[in-house]
Amino acid sequence: MQPISRRQALLLGGMGVAATAAGGAGLIWTLTSPSGPVTGANLVQPEENRSVDGQLQVRLEAAPGRILLGDRQAMAMGYNGSIPGPTLRIRPGDVLKIKLVNKLARPTNLHVHGLHVSPEGNGDNIFISVEPGGTFDYEYKLPADHPPGVYWYHPHHHGMVADQIFAGLFGGIIVEDPEPIETSAERVLVVSDTTLDGLGNILAVPALERMMGREGQLILVNGQSNPQFPARPGERERWRIINACVARYLRLRLDGQQLQLLGMDSGRYAKPETVDDLLLTPGNRADLLVTTATGDSTLRAFYQDRGSMPRMMGPGFGARSAAGQPDGTPLATLRVSGEPVASQTSVPDYQGLGDLRTSAVTAHRSIVLSAGMGMGGGAGMMRFTINGREFIKGRTDTTVAAGSVEEWTLTNTSPMDHPFHLHVWPMQIIEGDDQGKASAVWQDVVNVPANGRVKVRVAFNDFRGRSVYHCHILDHEDLGMMGVIEVR
Ligand code: C2O
Ligand code: CU
Ligand code: CU
Repeated sequence: MQPISRRQALLLGGMGVAATAAGGAGLIWTLTSPSGPVTGANLVQPEENRSVDGQLQVRLEAAPGRILLGDRQAMAMGYNGSIPGPTLRIRPGDVLKIKLVNKLARPTNLHVHGLHVSPEGNGDNIFISVEPGGTFDYEYKLPADHPPGVYWYHPHHHGMVADQIFAGLFGGIIVEDPEPIETSAERVLVVSDTTLDGLGNILAVPALERMMGREGQLILVNGQSNPQFPARPGERERWRIINACVARYLRLRLDGQQLQLLGMDSGRYAKPETVDDLLLTPGNRADLLVTTATGDSTLRAFYQDRGSMPRMMGPGFGARSAAGQPDGTPLATLRVSGEPVASQTSVPDYQGLGDLRTSAVTAHRSIVLSAGMGMGGGAGMMRFTINGREFIKGRTDTTVAAGSVEEWTLTNTSPMDHPFHLHVWPMQIIEGDDQGKASAVWQDVVNVPANGRVKVRVAFNDFRGRSVYHCHILDHEDLGMMGVIEVR
């Protein structure tokens, strides 16, 4: 008998009910039918909603439904019937009002990832639960000096975040520049991954996959498999790339084109930075300028080693290596041809988010990210903790005085990477970043390498209230790798 492959095992695992319903023939069809993606469809942009006169009011209905993912009719979940949900375009100083309507069978809520807004009341308050059939009116007031950049929204109901995002609940938010950058095209590219069974249902994820952090078999851009789009040589396009994958790290390349990184997460660098590749851990975003040159170029995701599970799980369990991993997975293809167009004006400089390297530090804090066997996890379950504890909604783990500048040392004692995310307040990387940069580097998701350490500084200005920090491998977050911060 042939040993069963991991993929077949996954399919079989998820096919229990469907296989019974469809009979043996259905099962065999599932296992043998190729699920290779259809390539070459034109890139579709999510619907856009733009603020007018300082306000944007939208209704987001989270509901299950049949949605085309790649070339498959999937039984997925989307906002307003699409994956990704609509892109929200707002400006510093705006008020964003979102009516969330929950048509799902389970509770949900909404988080505006990266926005510097109040975490209290009906703001970016992830302690709210919107029950099935319920609605909630969120309202976010952006400060007048809110950094421009790429942000996104997604559910944040503890215990269900990974499943709901894996099923398709996410969308982009763009905060426009104070001074516009001249470009020939603006594209929002939301990268997500998921796994479908033979009937198009989102596959349930076994416990061991959650512990490693699930990686879906389909990697999609705006819900499409390797879509294409045309351009003429000499154009300057602006790509807003969002890593909406639950756990997949994206090492991106676009060979044959000139790439300049305007910024990561929030704000922009003082000057654009020429890059060959870029790493987006789950939750990160890139604001990228592409100056086009004749030829076809494919945006590809390359393998990124993010470590393995601790040894105690058994020899080699969960070890990931380049072998056996799909590498250089095509995400989208740019086809550049025709007459060259005139070159664009220069990119205006950006007065950054400031630099805390010379600031007086009010408090030093240690945040320890761990994964290990422990009591209470159940047989074979690992515990994912921050400072030795799993998330409890009602407990405040970190209390910060409003107005202070803190330095946090993020230490990872586990053999796998964890992308650390803090809500509301962006972090400046002080030490541990791979390249010593002249200007300040601000991110809201910072990778803490396996057995590694990163130092960040945070200015707790503007807002008070309770919010969270967590690992943005959202399976880890759901398993408890999250803590509560209160600024008061
Ligand atoms: Cu994108 Cu608390 O998350
Ligand atoms: Cu967030
Ligand atoms: Cu993690």
